[in-house]
Amino acid sequence: MKRWMAILTLALGTLLALLALGAAPPILAQDGHEGDSGDADLAPLRGAAVYAEFCQACHGPQGEALGTGAAFAAIDAAALAGGGARQAILEGAGSADSGAAMPPYGDVLSGAQVDDLLAYLGTWTTGETPPLPEPNIGPLPESVEGFAGDPAAGAAVYARFCAGCHGASGAGRGAPAFPKLAGEAAQIASVARQGHESPFMPAFGAAQGGPLSDAQLTDLEAYLATWAQNETSQEPDDSRGYSLLIVVAGAVAILLLGVTYMARVVVKEEA
Ligand code: HEC
Ligand code: HEC
Repeated sequence: MKRWMAILTLALGTLLALLALGAAPPILAQDGHEGDSGDADLAPLRGAAVYAEFCQACHGPQGEALGTGAAFAAIDAAALAGGGARQAILEGAGSADSGAAMPPYGDVLSGAQVDDLLAYLGTWTTGETPPLPEPNIGPLPESVEGFAGDPAAGAAVYARFCAGCHGASGAGRGAPAFPKLAGEAAQIASVARQGHESPFMPAFGAAQGGPLSDAQLTDLEAYLATWAQNETSQEPDDSRGYSLLIVVAGAVAILLLGVTYMARVVVKEEA
């Protein structure tokens, strides 16, 4: 092998590496939710996703009252027209005395997410309301030994009614209003049914004035049992964009190292 071939290999490798890096940013941009450079037409759609994750647990798919409990209040058109919605979202609403209150979302949602959310709420009065996205549920076992419920159905219950405050995998979003979950599946499902003394954690059981039937709570319990069986499922998976970038950068680094090594061997052999 000639020296020029080694140099050519190096140059080609560098070119490939640069191409790979060039392909990476769109992956991030596509998955990113930050910044106000987003298309304004898409704001209600993005807002629907925020609403589905954080708000439908208490206010129902379209602001209708879900249960008889005070926490499951309707959002009426008057409240939206009055302009108090932004303040309610940032600072919370209702009173702790009534035993049911809305937590403040100021530290949990970005300014851009609140704008998107308000754009979505605005569509309730225009009649151009986009559908709420379905939760993204990963592969789950068909059943869990010792539990009667359906884990996949339970995952959907968790995504709609619990993830907004306790995080997609129970890691929480920052105490005190958004605490981490711990303990046995049966114990967690029982708190979900009965509620907690905190005004931000209402009783979700239908018999207690909440939206969840016994069957849904049984499914929820089976889903929570899969957490104990598979600890890795508790890993948060919302950093997909970043991890992809890391994979690309890692591949590029290995490629560069390999090419450099080969070039050096070739040059040495010649000498
Ligand atoms: C724990 C249940 C709960 C969750 C979750 C929740 N809210 Fe509320 N929300 C309430 C309660 C309780 C009230 C007060 C109702 C009342 O005072 O009659 C309220 C009131 C409101 C109001 C009316 C405020 C006013 O001016 O009267 C709006 C708008 C609202 N919520 C929007 C949201 C949005 C948007 C989200 C998601 C980011 C959300 N809520 C999440 C329970 C909740
Ligand atoms: C609006 C926010 C919110 C929603 C929605 C919510 N929780 Fe909670 N949850 C809380 C808060 C706040 C606490 C009380 C934390 C404290 O004060 O210790 C709590 C407490 C709990 C506890 C007791 C934790 C402990 O260590 O004592 C369990 C279990 C629980 N929630 C499960 C659920 C489940 C299951 C769902 C879905 C059906 C759910 N929660 C929905 C906010 C929420």
